[in-house]
Amino acid sequence: MRKKVTVVGAGNVGANCALRIADKELADVVLVDIMEGIPQGKGLDIQQSGPVQGYDVRITGANDYEPTAGSDIVVITAGFPRKPGMSRDDLLLANFEIVKTAAENAMKYSPNAILILVTNPLDAMCWAAWKVTGLPKNRIIGMAGVLDTARFRTFLGEAMGVSVTNINALVLGGHGDTMVPITRLTNVSGVPLSEILDAETIAKIVERTQNGGAEIVKYLKTGSAYYAPSAATVEMVESILKDQKKVLPCAALLEGEYNVNGVFFGVPVKLGSSGIEKIYEVQLTDDEKAQIQKSAAAVQELVDVLQQKVS
Ligand code: NAI
Ligand code: 2OP
Repeated sequence: MRKKVTVVGAGNVGANCALRIADKELADVVLVDIMEGIPQGKGLDIQQSGPVQGYDVRITGANDYEPTAGSDIVVITAGFPRKPGMSRDDLLLANFEIVKTAAENAMKYSPNAILILVTNPLDAMCWAAWKVTGLPKNRIIGMAGVLDTARFRTFLGEAMGVSVTNINALVLGGHGDTMVPITRLTNVSGVPLSEILDAETIAKIVERTQNGGAEIVKYLKTGSAYYAPSAATVEMVESILKDQKKVLPCAALLEGEYNVNGVFFGVPVKLGSSGIEKIYEVQLTDDEKAQIQKSAAAVQELVDVLQQKVS
């Protein structure tokens, strides 16, 4: 039997997730949105690409959750995107209500599903979904690190004139401008970054990565990035559905790892058929540890606001 993925939110990120899942023929997809006709229309349009692209998966749309029953993975992209001048944190309360409804409804029909959160502010939305569903921590995962790392690799590849596929990079922390690209552990096929680029160039690339989402918002003006975010999400979906056990930076519930407790935070994890199968803790320098604590404090601040909503 084919795998089944529900994508809640048939907007820019959600529709592109459905398209990429279909193109890779990973699973049947049910797109859910509150906008009448939008998920149905986009689903049918993607379905009709099948004969040309050569896939047989079924892509359907719905305005309710009944057709999502029995999904292996639920991806939540529903919510408002950032507008120019707006921080991810401005989205907090509006998107909390949306994520709460989506997570509760989706899990009612697919109680065994693994939940991938995309909606911003990402780390806080993961925490909210975890609180309202009570799912075990291996089954709630946030997408941010794969995107942030992809941006870091893109900028490094450009600066060095090398293939992005040869760059191994690590970005830890919350999905925001306090994220922590670990340049010390970044390398090009084993060659340390510091032996190829000077410190000033590396610092500029780190800053550009930390503001990578805002850079796209500034260009688009009416929304935020979706091609790279959907590619990043589907890499996670594929690793879970195929039990690939890829080690990817994802938001996971930390319980003391990296000296962070009780919040979701970007760390390297092993993604397989049961979701997060392992969290990897790497040794950090004092300076890196301080940056991690700053990033964790930024996530904790948002979670503190949400605490009142869920208690
Ligand atoms: P979009 O505006 O294109 O799509 C959002 C969709 O959600 C709309 O179609 C809307 O009708 C739908 N929606 C709203 N309330 C709903 C509900 N209660 N149930 C079902 N659907 C609902 O926005 P886009 O660009 O797709 O972004 C979606 C979210 O993903 C935003 O919060 C954005 O900030 C976030 N995002 C996160 C990234 C990350 O790295 N974690 C990267 C890119 C976007
Ligand atoms: C991004 O990083 C908006 O979080 C989104 O593009």
